Amino acid sequence: MVAKYIASLRALAARRVVTLVAAAFVLASVIVILVRLGPPAKLNDLKLPDVKLPDIDMSKLPNIPGFSGSHEPEHYEKCDRNITEPLKLWKAAQQKYDKLMDDKFTIAMQTYKRPKELDETLRVILSEKIASLHEIVIIWNNLEEKPPGNFKSETGVPVRYRVSERNSLNMKLLPDPDFKTQAVLLSDDDVYYKPQDLEFAFQTWRKFGQHRLTGALPRCATPDAEGNWGYGFCSKDSNQDVYSMIITNLCFSHMSFLDYYSSNNTVMQKVRDYVDDHFNCEDIALNYVVSYLTGTGPLLVKGRDKYVNYEPAQGISKKPGHLEARSKCLNDLTKMFGCMPLVNETAHIERGVIVL
Ligand SMILES: *[C@@H]1O[C@H](CO)[C@@H](O)[C@H](O)[C@H]1NC(C)=O
Ligand SMILES: *[C@@H]1O[C@H](CO)[C@@H](O)[C@H](O)[C@H]1NC(C)=O
Ligand SMILES: *[C@@H]1O[C@H](CO)[C@@H](O)[C@H](O)[C@H]1NC(C)=O
Repeated sequence: MVAKYIASLRALAARRVVTLVAAAFVLASVIVILVRLGPPAKLNDLKLPDVKLPDIDMSKLPNIPGFSGSHEPEHYEKCDRNITEPLKLWKAAQQKYDKLMDDKFTIAMQTYKRPKELDETLRVILSEKIASLHEIVIIWNNLEEKPPGNFKSETGVPVRYRVSERNSLNMKLLPDPDFKTQAVLLSDDDVYYKPQDLEFAFQTWRKFGQHRLTGALPRCATPDAEGNWGYGFCSKDSNQDVYSMIITNLCFSHMSFLDYYSSNNTVMQKVRDYVDDHFNCEDIALNYVVSYLTGTGPLLVKGRDKYVNYEPAQGISKKPGHLEARSKCLNDLTKMFGCMPLVNETAHIERGVIVL
């Protein structure tokens, strides 16, 4: 009986010892692992494995459902001002056009198969003397039809039809070597400022807008929660009453920006191909160019009257999915520039006096 009791005590003691030894071993292992994983005592002790990662273009990987890694939105910072080469190119362009008149402007009006709208717009613009209007050039993109002949209006303004080499939105932004003025009013055949307001808009460009796109129709770029840019009409809500683009339906540009847009700079070549592939967004692209080079936003100008826009039943901006396509342009162009160049502007200029 006693012997049996002693034997059971021994067995218990043996199990305790085994348990203690095992616990001590586990604890020691944990300490060793923690010490190894912990921060190195000195930064120099930190040795990263010398592994070369393969170059994988994440955007080219197939989309795996439920796996978000392959279409995570890419984030691009605001563009900085450290852009020596582009600025050199722009400066050369400015010098090139220095000899052109700076107190007159040219209208470059794009048209495509809308003779009624074109005639009406020309009729209004040519109905009154506009002191600083030097010439109207109609960018004729309807290649199937011959344009009417050039003429001179009763107000003395020459009107010249320029047939495009192809039906491309880039044709409107060409720095035509025959232009005689530094200022070009980019416009479409269905939208105009009334004549007196047009002169006012040009004088505003001269005083405040030579380094900005200066015109009538503002647009906005706003990021969503994930950082994707969305294109939209602007809002007057107090926390968002800003704009960052003026579309080229009706806006003044300095020749040097058109020159840069049309240059052989590699980014600009890609941008023009993109505009041709999508038949869209040349106006967004020109806003990117100007703000990229100047670090400044555009300038909205309101005449005494609102600009006139026929809002035709047909036209690019009336197609369904227009805003989505324009948003895609914002994101694709940001990728091409490698940064977001647009700059918000909070003010605009309006003709007339405020009587207090
Ligand atoms: C400006 O850009 C150049 C080349 O892109 C780079 O070497 C330089 O460090 C940059 N300077 C600043 C102040 O960011
Ligand atoms: C302009 O301001 C809006 C609203 O405040 C903001 O969401 C947006 O990011 C800004 N856009 C740019 C290009 O900085
Ligand atoms: C690019 O354009 C500049 C000036 O416009 C010209 O001097 C240069 O030769 C052109 N380069 C190429 C590769 O075409």
